[in-house]
Amino acid sequence: MIVTNGTLNILFLLLNHLVGRQGTLLTEEMTYPNMQALSGMLGFKIQGIRMDGDGLDPDALIEACKANPGVKVLYTIPTLQNPTATVMALERRLEICRVARDHDLIIIEDDAQALMLEDGPPPLATIAPERVWYVMGLAKTVVMGMRVAYVMAPRFEDTEAIMARFGKMSMWFVAALQAELAQALIATGIAAEATREIRRTANDRRAIVAELLEWPAFLERPGGLHVWIPTATNAVEIAAAAHSAGILIRPGVQFAATPHATRAMSGLRLSFCEVRQEADLRTALERLRRLID
Ligand SMILES: Cc1ncc(COP(=O)(O)O)c(C=O)c1O
Repeated sequence: MIVTNGTLNILFLLLNHLVGRQGTLLTEEMTYPNMQALSGMLGFKIQGIRMDGDGLDPDALIEACKANPGVKVLYTIPTLQNPTATVMALERRLEICRVARDHDLIIIEDDAQALMLEDGPPPLATIAPERVWYVMGLAKTVVMGMRVAYVMAPRFEDTEAIMARFGKMSMWFVAALQAELAQALIATGIAAEATREIRRTANDRRAIVAELLEWPAFLERPGGLHVWIPTATNAVEIAAAAHSAGILIRPGVQFAATPHATRAMSGLRLSFCEVRQEADLRTALERLRRLID
């Protein structure tokens, strides 16, 4: 296991190490927007894979592997995906791991919000440990702003290989005080209590969203720190009008892995991490509701 300064830091090193310049990275068709920034900095291409209500579509993954014989790496967020909030069910996880084995893919699994589910499905890393780099940071589900992340490599030799290249580059070293503090929070049970509290708050907020926006499509979804609102049309216009009304909400297109990601065009991601007071959330949602109407 490697302890590092936040998830993004280790993603930078992993993508440089595993994909490299001119390589192709497979991702969900909508993904964590910093993947675009990393692709620009590190010079790899991204190919988005079609998704459905369960996340990555295994047939689309097979097609992509066949179309790009040199492709080696898949980056995925199987639990509470960013931005769609989908949770890949166990059966789908088994299928994705089967495809990865058949095509010898390495998987980078980003479990940023996994702790938001009390009994979520098992990580891909437990299903195909021989090929998954498992990444989990504390910034979302323990203490916001605590930029400590943990990375499980498939094998010890894999950590040695990455250390051989980057071991002396101190920018990835975890800040020792922060790591010590994270360790103490975990050991004393304070971290677990903080996570329970974040879960309770997020569930209360989701209930407010459900009450004020009334979109059945996302109500059945389990809890996370954001919801995906499938508006079908005008997502960009609604987001722009919302900005003018003081509400920060992102249109799906900002998460598009590739410009033709069709689902991306039609939705909005509403995140409630940064809201301080529930009253502010209510006011914002009432305004948003009027804009959408
Ligand atoms: C899926 C995902 N991965 C990683 C990160 C960044 O995490 P960190 O703060 O640990 O770098 C985020 C933050 O928004 C995220 O949504």
